[in-house]
Formats: sequence, structure tokens, C-alpha cells
Amino acid sequence: MSTTRFGDIELHRADHIATLTIDRPDKLNAVQWRFWKDLREALAICETDGDTRFVILTGAGERAFCAGGDIVEFGEMEGLDTMRAFQLDAMAGFAAIERSPLTVMAAVNGLAMGGGCELALACDFAIASDNASFALPEARLGLVPGFGVLRAPDAMGRAMAKFMVATGERIGAQRAYEVGLVQKVVPAAVLMAEAQALAAKAASFSPLALTVGKKLMNRQIDQASFDYSVEAITVLQASPERNAAVNAFIASQKAKV
Ligand code: COA
Repeated sequence: MSTTRFGDIELHRADHIATLTIDRPDKLNAVQWRFWKDLREALAICETDGDTRFVILTGAGERAFCAGGDIVEFGEMEGLDTMRAFQLDAMAGFAAIERSPLTVMAAVNGLAMGGGCELALACDFAIASDNASFALPEARLGLVPGFGVLRAPDAMGRAMAKFMVATGERIGAQRAYEVGLVQKVVPAAVLMAEAQALAAKAASFSPLALTVGKKLMNRQIDQASFDYSVEAITVLQASPERNAAVNAFIASQKAKV
């Protein structure tokens, strides 16, 4: 049994199960740029420790799984090169989950917005507490979810994905279950117990069988779509609409103090 930390990620390993907890609850687990590298490193540790067979991704606290990318940090990014580097890093984080030989399950314990919803989409499957909610609200910021636009149509159907991207509406756990975004909904009080039980079941099976199953079922995002998404989001990040929306978010934060 061991617990280590990679920036805002706590990695706990026990009984062949690794739990990655996004641990920044005062900011609703919004993730900063360095999160994407920390995520890749934490996953790589699990993949090579010779013991871990299953990974759970969850959020700390009762309110949020993850409220997406840190919008304040967006406001500090300057120049296309920086924005492109950020987008590449984030996309590499999602891809690391998809390409991992380990099965990764999201245990969504509250809000999953923007990048948080995309993290749930990147996982092999997801369970959610009955008070969880999901949204892809990037359009409010003059953006679209670079990974979500590529993956959400597979997960929930094209029209539902477009609905979420174009309206930014939040849907509850039950609706998320109905559209295929999550595979099981449980009461909040038992979410982690249920996650552990599912993980223990999967971890009792042949690791090789699980890896082969995942690899055969996953269709990689083709490189051209991946590259196009990175370039398109980079351009959106540099747009005046996005700047105005990010500045408005930062101003509203300051207004609360
Ligand atoms: N980036 C940076 N900070 C964020 C954040 C994000 N994506 N989401 C939440 N936070 C911060 C808030 O600024 C606040 O910080 P503060 O206490 O220092 O002021 C803290 O987390 C709590 O959030 P708050 O807004 O006070 O809670 P709320 O219940 O009033 O609203 C949300 C919750 C999720 C509706 C609101 O925080 C929000 O809209 N966040 C942005 C979500 C988003 O658009 N994500 C996609 C980004 S691409």
C-alpha cells in the first residue's frame, strides 16, 4: 500500500487498484496546466509498477469531480505557441488514459464540467453518484472541448454531443446514464465503495485479457483529427471572444472577494 503525490493528484495504490484523486477541492478540482503531465506520470507509475491492474479516477471533496481547465490560468496564457503547447499537453493527457494498457474508470463524485467531463469521456467507462452533473460549457468561453468534440459523439451519439457543446447545458447523472456517458449511477454515499467493488472484480481477472479487450475495443482518434483539433482550439484560445469571456470570469471571481 502506498500514497504519493503528483502536483494536485494523489495516487493511492493498494490491492492491485490505483486511485487517482484530483485534489484541489477549493477550486472544484479545476485542473492547471501541469496536471496533464502529472496525470501522465502517475499513470506511467501504475503501468510499470508490476502490481496495479485497475485505475480509478475521482475528485476530492463532495462537490466536484473536476470543473475543467483552470480559467484563471487561461487568462495568463499569451501567444499562439503557448496556447498550442497547452492544448497538445492536455490532449496528450486524455490520450494517455485511452492508450493505457490498464483499464481506467471514472468515479464521478459531483460536477464534471468541461475538461472534467472530457476526463470522464477519456476513461474506459464511468460510474457516477446520483448528485453528479455533466456539462461541456466551453462555448460560453468562446471555446469548444478539443477532446470532447472528437469523443463525445461516440459515447452519447452525435446529436446529443452537439446539444451539449452548443448549449453548454448541464445534465444530471440519470440523464448521463441514459445517453451513455456513464454506465452506472449509485447513491453518493456508496460511490467509492461501489468503485472499489467494481475495480476489485476487474482486478481479479487476467490483466492481459483486460488489456487486449481494451485495445481491441478502442479506436484511436486519427492523427489528422487530433492535429486539427489542437490547431483549431489554439486559434479559439487566441480569439477576442475567448479573451473577453475569460476576463469576465476572472472579474467575477474578484468581485466575490
Ligand atoms: N477554473 C478556475 N477556477 C474555477 C473553475 C475553473 N474552471 N471552476 C470553479 N473555480 C473556482 C471558482 O472561481 C471559485 O474560486 P474562489 O472561491 O477562489 O472564488 C471556486 O472554484 C468555487 O467555485 P464557485 O464559482 O464559487 O462555485 P459556484 O457553485 O458558485 O459555481 C460553477 C460552480 C462550476 C458553476 C462555476 O464555478 C463555474 O462556472 N466554473 C467554470 C466551469 C467551466 O466553465 N469549466 C470549463 C472550463 S474550459
